[in-house]
Amino acid sequence: QLGLKTKTLGRHVHFEESVTSTQKIAHRLAYEGTPEGTIVVAEEQQAGRGRLDRLWFSPKYTGVWMSIILRPSIPPSQTPQLTLLAAVAVVQGIQEVTGLEPDIKWPNDILIGGKKVVGILTELQAEADRVNSVIIGIGINVNQTIEQFPEELTSIATSLSIQQGDKIDRALLIQSILAKLEDLYHNYLTNGFKVVKLLWESYAISIGKQIIARTLNGSIEGRAIGITDDGVLRLEGMDGTIHLIHSADIEIKQ
Ligand code: BTN
Repeated sequence: QLGLKTKTLGRHVHFEESVTSTQKIAHRLAYEGTPEGTIVVAEEQQAGRGRLDRLWFSPKYTGVWMSIILRPSIPPSQTPQLTLLAAVAVVQGIQEVTGLEPDIKWPNDILIGGKKVVGILTELQAEADRVNSVIIGIGINVNQTIEQFPEELTSIATSLSIQQGDKIDRALLIQSILAKLEDLYHNYLTNGFKVVKLLWESYAISIGKQIIARTLNGSIEGRAIGITDDGVLRLEGMDGTIHLIHSADIEIKQ
């Protein structure tokens, strides 16, 4: 019912009315050996998961709550590249369907007018040094009105329809994002990370800016100078030291 135009992505679609979390279902399917390209889509998540153990608000019929299972032959250290790849595909899909021009905030927040419209959560099943599957969870606020957001989110989150003014066709959005993702993924498997990296940098707002990176080990302030070939953020501290940031919340200062 999604009208997909892709070859491998979405060949197996698990479409659910209500779930705890599409990530949780995707983990189980991946563990059971489901083929690459399987996707799980739900109308509602009761316990949608965000990064850093946060909850992801996922009300019924208003968003895209989707998890995609990939099985690339890459070492676990390269999986951040797939998060960035997914962010590029989502930006391109949103551009195509809505005409909006979203920005990416490292590593994987997609913002419009400084407010978050999309979150991406990449999780891994790996044995020793071999990736078994990568589960990319994508949450898009599509048709929520401002009133439908919980109060604490109204200053930091928005939806595509608030930004664009019209109701947006969620199936069309999924089709477009999966088509972009499939192209980028095949290019990535054949030619490596280069193209994705360039595209990602062209949509990123944090690069070149003064930022504060809040990691589990404390905060570092400095200038975001780019990403490494593994997709890790390079930050130049106040004293000129280069820090490699694998996981953090970023605040852009200017
Ligand atoms: C973030 O914190 O920014 C990431 C949010 C990821 C949310 C998506 S919605 C589909 C998938 N299922 C989940 O439980 N989480 C991800």
